[in-house]
Amino acid sequence: MKAVVYSSKSFEKEYLAKANHKKHDITLISNPLGIDTASFSEGKDAVIVFTNDDVSAPVIEKLKKFGIKYIATRSVGTDHIDKEAASAAGIKIANVPNYSPQSIAEHAIALILALNRKTIIAHQNAQIFDFRLDHLQGFTLYQKTVGLIGFGKIALCLANILNGFGCKVLIYDPYVNHIPANVIKVSLDELYQQSDIISLHTPLNTETKYTINNQSIKKMQDGVMLINTGRGALVNTKHLLNALKTGKIGFYGADVYENEKALFFEDHSKDVVKDELLQELLTQPNVIITPHQAFLTTEALQEIANKTIKNLDMWQANKCVGDACACANSCRTEKAILKPNA
Ligand code: NAI
Repeated sequence: MKAVVYSSKSFEKEYLAKANHKKHDITLISNPLGIDTASFSEGKDAVIVFTNDDVSAPVIEKLKKFGIKYIATRSVGTDHIDKEAASAAGIKIANVPNYSPQSIAEHAIALILALNRKTIIAHQNAQIFDFRLDHLQGFTLYQKTVGLIGFGKIALCLANILNGFGCKVLIYDPYVNHIPANVIKVSLDELYQQSDIISLHTPLNTETKYTINNQSIKKMQDGVMLINTGRGALVNTKHLLNALKTGKIGFYGADVYENEKALFFEDHSKDVVKDELLQELLTQPNVIITPHQAFLTTEALQEIANKTIKNLDMWQANKCVGDACACANSCRTEKAILKPNA
């Protein structure tokens, strides 16, 4: 199969090469997918994209014209892809539903501890030989209540780590039935009311967009810590900013930002005009923003590459990609009508 990898980073190259074993003809380009770059897919069977690529309806229309039959995203999230448009264009979609949930869970912990123990401020002070303890007081995680919104693979890993710290873990997820003994399932309101720390782990969709807004913030404890390694638009950033300014939200740690597309993954330090909302957020005390790097571990990169290549293998063999199917009308329902070895 011929494929082009959009938004490829130099650090991905060796993992993809190792996974591919020269099976597929893969071209790596650093350009993000968009209207102007869709033409690079001409003559290929598949495009391999990432979270900040533009896979909207107009781009999909172009991909179809260039002969693309498959879109494989190197991510869990598929919110950047217009699935209905892909379905209408007869293009199949696959994601990497499970690569290294530990990587993201551990990054959430890194954010919690860095905020709580003021690690970044302490290090910045140490660099200028200021070793005072003023403003560095934190709190222990031991016996704190942590609420996880969405209880899938990442949240399950996080719950296990938090249990090790001695935390009480509350979860809200209306779609899971099997609840392990080390967490307590509660209503969303109970989670808001009881949690010292709240961490977001749902996919981004119309139901979950702006989960965190003025109304939900009102229900939270004063000074709560909010962690977002999910997707930026799970949080209404303007509402969050107001709550940070009043101290209603005491800490915010995020690996994602609602307007991160065309911003994250590139160096914008010399831009004259910068995203004002993000700039204001970054000037708030007790805020840490990382550039969508929670997935960025050696282990995760290899898994992403392996599973992306496996998706191409399956499509080439005219088979369903199984759990990785992210089509609007899931291929899993088509599985039965696919001829074996066809
Ligand atoms: P998952 O699919 O295993 O879990 C998501 C959970 O959210 C499911 O249990 C589902 O039932 C639940 N959910 C869906 N709608 C909900 C709602 N309205 N309220 C409460 N729960 C709801 O996904 P996983 O692997 O745990 O990943 C979660 C999200 O993390 C992904 O969708 C992605 O957006 C984000 N992510 C971020 C990464 C990063 O580098 N920052 C890397 C990987 C994933």
